[in-house]
Amino acid sequence: MKKKLALLLVTAMTVSGLVACGKSEAPTQEAAAPAQEEAQAEDEAAVAEDETPEQEEAAPAADGELITVGFAQVGHESDWRAANTKNYQDTFSAENGYELSFVDCDNDHAVQIETVRGFIEQELDYICIAPIQSAGWDTVLQEAQDAGIPVLIVDRAVDADPSLYTTALGCDMIAEGEAAGNWLAEYLGDKEANILVIEGSVGASATLGRTEGFDNILSQHDNWTKLDSQSGDFTQAGGQEVMESFIKTYGQGGFNVVVCQNDNEAYGAMDAMDAAGITYGVDGDVQIISFDATHDGLQYTLDGKITCNVECNPLQAGFAEEVIKKLEAGEAVDAWTLVKDEAFVAPGIESQYAVTMSQEVLDGRAY
Ligand code: AHR
Repeated sequence: MKKKLALLLVTAMTVSGLVACGKSEAPTQEAAAPAQEEAQAEDEAAVAEDETPEQEEAAPAADGELITVGFAQVGHESDWRAANTKNYQDTFSAENGYELSFVDCDNDHAVQIETVRGFIEQELDYICIAPIQSAGWDTVLQEAQDAGIPVLIVDRAVDADPSLYTTALGCDMIAEGEAAGNWLAEYLGDKEANILVIEGSVGASATLGRTEGFDNILSQHDNWTKLDSQSGDFTQAGGQEVMESFIKTYGQGGFNVVVCQNDNEAYGAMDAMDAAGITYGVDGDVQIISFDATHDGLQYTLDGKITCNVECNPLQAGFAEEVIKKLEAGEAVDAWTLVKDEAFVAPGIESQYAVTMSQEVLDGRAY
């Protein structure tokens, strides 16, 4: 991709994106909903088209050169992240016409900023950033724009002005939190909830969004109490450590719901509750809500240990590639692409908000 053309496209697209989107936050469930109606999708410039990007025609490198793509990845904190990394490496392969510069930023914001600067210095054709935290991006995004390099914000969101980057794609984290809350309300009925929350990494949009979404529902229920919330950093060790400390503070019988903001934290929380003799799951004293719905997380859901698991789909590289192909072809791109996801509940539970787990669902899991 030649830099001048890219710069022109970014500028044109940013103007249309601003008109279409009008704000920098991830869209609400309502704003994203039209993407699910194929008939409406063509009229929604800022919303994803409802098709699988992998089905698009290939051959992005029309001039025979490999397209260079830098990917500043969050780190390797979770099974979700491993699946997301593999998906990018498989998609942006030399065989598919790309040279991928992949950097694992090890959950360090400063490293991630310097990684992006390195990509700019190397004059890569495109930069993908999965932001560790949502704040602190304006300067380096301006540098990339000044260099004429299109930037794709992937997975998580930034709170920078959208005119500073080319496009964003990912799941709607607020909607994920609301799905968890809505399911809990349906499941508990009039029963009270004493809730402990193991949050994800501090400042990450996945943490902020899931917290905001769940709290939106919690605020509608007078007999729900959020006893405590602490960061488990999206890791199994973090989840276990936070749960051990919660158990010391609140004791057996002091809580009946644990919300873990990803599957790995849920595994750690289960280890801590096993050690303390606390029963959990559909037949236990504590209901666990998790996020990600990775293969192992869904196995625990099928086993009735995690009662509700809200998906966050890590297979997002195809959407990024679709954007790059459009830019290579001189086409405008949408300001925002929603990666859709759904929720799952343990066998025996029927829900309007979630799919009841079965072996068939698990067998169909690609990650
Ligand atoms: O941004 C997505 C989140 O990041 C996933 O839920 C979590 O597992 C990962 O670390």
